Amino acid sequence: MLRILVVHGPNLNLLGTREPSIYGADNLDQINQRLRTRAQAGGAELVAFQSNTEGILVDRLQEAGRDGTGFVIINPGAYTHTSVAMRDALSAVKIPFIEVHLSNVFARESFRHHSYFTDIAVGMVCGLGAKGYELALEYALQAGERS
Ligand code: DQA
Repeated sequence: MLRILVVHGPNLNLLGTREPSIYGADNLDQINQRLRTRAQAGGAELVAFQSNTEGILVDRLQEAGRDGTGFVIINPGAYTHTSVAMRDALSAVKIPFIEVHLSNVFARESFRHHSYFTDIAVGMVCGLGAKGYELALEYALQAGERS
C-alpha cells in the first residue's frame, strides 16, 4: 500500500484564521481530513504532519526515509525560501515529492519567488488554495499505481 506523507511547515497550523484572503478559510484539520478520505478511497495511506520548527521537520523527513513513505506532499511555508536543511533532508531520503503553496508566491513579495525545493521536486502547485494539495494527491495516487 502506498504511504503518502503530507508535511505542513510553520504557521500552517493557523490556517482558517491566518490571512484568509490569502490562504483561504479551511483549517488544517479540514484539509487533512479531505486528503485522508481521498487517499483511503484510492487505496493509499496518508499521514499528515505539521511543525513550526525546522529541525523537527527535518527529523520527520528523515523518518519518512525509514518508515516506508513512498511519496511526500510538502508545503514548507516560509522555510520554502530559507531552508537548505529541509532540502538536504529530501535529497537524502530520495522520496519523490510535490511542493504545494496555497497562495501564488510569484504574485507576492520578491523574497517568496525563490524556493529551495522546486528544482528537486517532481513538480510544484501554487495559487490554487487547498485544492493544490488535492491535485498533488491525485498525482501521487496515480504515480503509486504505476510503481
Ligand atoms: C506559503 C507561501 C509562503 O511564502 C509563506 O511563507 C507561507 C505559506 C503558501 O502556502 O502560500 O507560510 O507556503
